[in-house]
Amino acid sequence: MRLSFIITLLSFLFLAGPGHAQTVMISAQPNEEAPTISRHIYGHFAEHLGRCIYGGFYVGENSEIPNTKGVRMDVVEALKALKIPNLRWPGGCFADTYHWKDGIGPKADRPSILNVWWGGVREDNSFGTHEFLDMCELLGTDPYLSANVGSGTPQEFADWIKYTTHPAGSSPMPELREKNGRKEPWKVRFWGVGNEAWGCGGNMRPEYYSDVYRRFATYASDWGNSDGLVRIASGASSEDYNWTEVLMKNIPKNLIDAIALHHYSVIDWGKKGPAVDFSEGQYFTTMKRALMMEELIQKHVAIMDKYDPNKRVDLYVDEWGGWYDVEPGTNPGFLYQQNTMRDAMIAGVTLNIFNNHADRVKMANIAQAVNVLQAVVLTDEEKMILTPTYHIFRMYNVHHDAQLIPLSFVSPQFIQNNEVLPAISASASKDGEGKVHISLVNIDDKKTHQISVDVSALGLKTVKGEILTSDQLQDHNTFDNPDTIKPTTFNGAKLQGGKLTLSVPPFSVIVLEGTK
Ligand code: AHR
Repeated sequence: MRLSFIITLLSFLFLAGPGHAQTVMISAQPNEEAPTISRHIYGHFAEHLGRCIYGGFYVGENSEIPNTKGVRMDVVEALKALKIPNLRWPGGCFADTYHWKDGIGPKADRPSILNVWWGGVREDNSFGTHEFLDMCELLGTDPYLSANVGSGTPQEFADWIKYTTHPAGSSPMPELREKNGRKEPWKVRFWGVGNEAWGCGGNMRPEYYSDVYRRFATYASDWGNSDGLVRIASGASSEDYNWTEVLMKNIPKNLIDAIALHHYSVIDWGKKGPAVDFSEGQYFTTMKRALMMEELIQKHVAIMDKYDPNKRVDLYVDEWGGWYDVEPGTNPGFLYQQNTMRDAMIAGVTLNIFNNHADRVKMANIAQAVNVLQAVVLTDEEKMILTPTYHIFRMYNVHHDAQLIPLSFVSPQFIQNNEVLPAISASASKDGEGKVHISLVNIDDKKTHQISVDVSALGLKTVKGEILTSDQLQDHNTFDNPDTIKPTTFNGAKLQGGKLTLSVPPFSVIVLEGTK
């Protein structure tokens, strides 16, 4: 009797083994020297593209949609709740065709241009510098102006800096600003010196762009008239390491504060696949592209370390996110796409990667804030919805300006067709009040993973959490069902003997808060 009971138990354990994956042991190692996670990692991007600005942010003062100086207030309130730290504008590719003086002064006098990159539509310049910078004040966010290098001049760039940042009455540009209704300067620290100079920003080679950069950056100065500017070089596309190498070698460090990097989670530029009805294989490939961010940052940073061991120059990932086919029936040039749990996975793992590289990655901008690519907000006339990506940004904003807590663990595998990805992604930080936050993502679409976090060095007494999950990876919010996906309270974490234990369901994101 006894023997048969033991055998039954053993065979049960054996059979149960593969189904019950091993517990993932994570060790949290607080370190006084660890970097602060810049809140600017949680930045956004707004281009004159499709319905991002017009219809998305800006509806005009005569709209029935509640607005302040034409900026829709539902969008402002939603983004304020995210505490968006910065907003990059006016492009993207649009930036290198944009002449800022077209967008100031009485609207009736502003010339129209053709938006050559995005849908070939008329740009009437009704949303310009004043509208954008006033909107940033409304949002409580830092503006990041991306200046025209591809088809602009150093003079135009220098004038834009004087117009926006120099004190009233100090020279002709601030006088022009005052004539246009704004006496005091705005606070504009972040300046992009062109965008994608290797492509839509002028198809330049890195050697040539380095020289062009040096020329533009020489005049891109506040001449002591503000708290200082951050000059950002147009960076590499994904794994173009040579771009970073040449720029780091050729641009003197006194002329550059940050270098950019763009990386999109796109399956194949020729065959991107649908935003909603994607297959398991497409999901896996998207996650592979998203997780590639880890390798990209490591390799670009290794090059930066070679030329800048003291880490004077920051890395800004100022465009990232999922990129799919546009929604059926919409303008292909408008890049309007839905946003599912797959996007929540991209956001969760990418933000964890940025947090964990907080020593060099000091800014990042998801593309784009409203109605374009991996948007946090979608609008349809007067309606507005929050996407799964929005909820991740809201859940993760506890990491803003908090001190990184390095984690170490070996992730279980997420396998498909003999390809392997890490299933679990995590990052942690301690905020100014001493609260500890741990964000955990399980990208495996089938397996739950048991996790045990050793937090004995943190002295935690209580834990609570939030979870974002759903039934299907393809689930998303719609204008008819705006709350299909939203975070809920997570009570599944147990704190005992210096260990936090929990189960992380398939394709879910959990953020835990521990207090002493
Ligand atoms: O975000 C859309 C476009 O992607 C941007 O305009 C460009 O910089 C990038 O190629």
